[in-house]
Amino acid sequence: MTTEDIGALLHAEHLQALGVANALEVRIMGADKNRPLGPTAPADRKFVDELVAALDDAICRHYRFEEETLFPLLQTAGLQDVTAMLTGEHETIRTMAGELRALAKNSAATPLDQQQWTRFRETAMDFIHAVMFHIQKEEMGVVRSLSLMLGAAASADLAQRYRAMQQGGDATP
Ligand SMILES: [Fe+2]
Ligand SMILES: [Fe+2]
Repeated sequence: MTTEDIGALLHAEHLQALGVANALEVRIMGADKNRPLGPTAPADRKFVDELVAALDDAICRHYRFEEETLFPLLQTAGLQDVTAMLTGEHETIRTMAGELRALAKNSAATPLDQQQWTRFRETAMDFIHAVMFHIQKEEMGVVRSLSLMLGAAASADLAQRYRAMQQGGDATP
């Protein structure tokens, strides 16, 4: 059995979240930027499915794990200010993710109207910036030094617990 470390798992999901941010950017700024999301284009259906899954997993589940399991350990290690800042950013991003999720879900039944599409694009823009900034901070301030801070055994144990969460399909939007 290979031992995983929690930093590597979180890093992999950060890359996944950046992939979503990139797909969002292409949809709202690329060739189709003036065409609201709707149910008829197969590419839109795929985009919405992937977006909703990623918001549930790489954002909501990931944040919950960090807040409930990882951050308390970091607080014990003296990083209270860092975890407070990161948790605040989670709140902001979660609100935007909820809005994007709701609009994307609507679009699977009826095309978004112009006002909804503008709202989606504006929220997506803010979401992209916030997610990129957040990940950058976590990668530099936390992920790199995680196994050093926690020790290899604790890091492997956390990885195992997070794997179980991933496999349980545990997600609350
Ligand atoms: Fe993270
Ligand atoms: Fe985070």
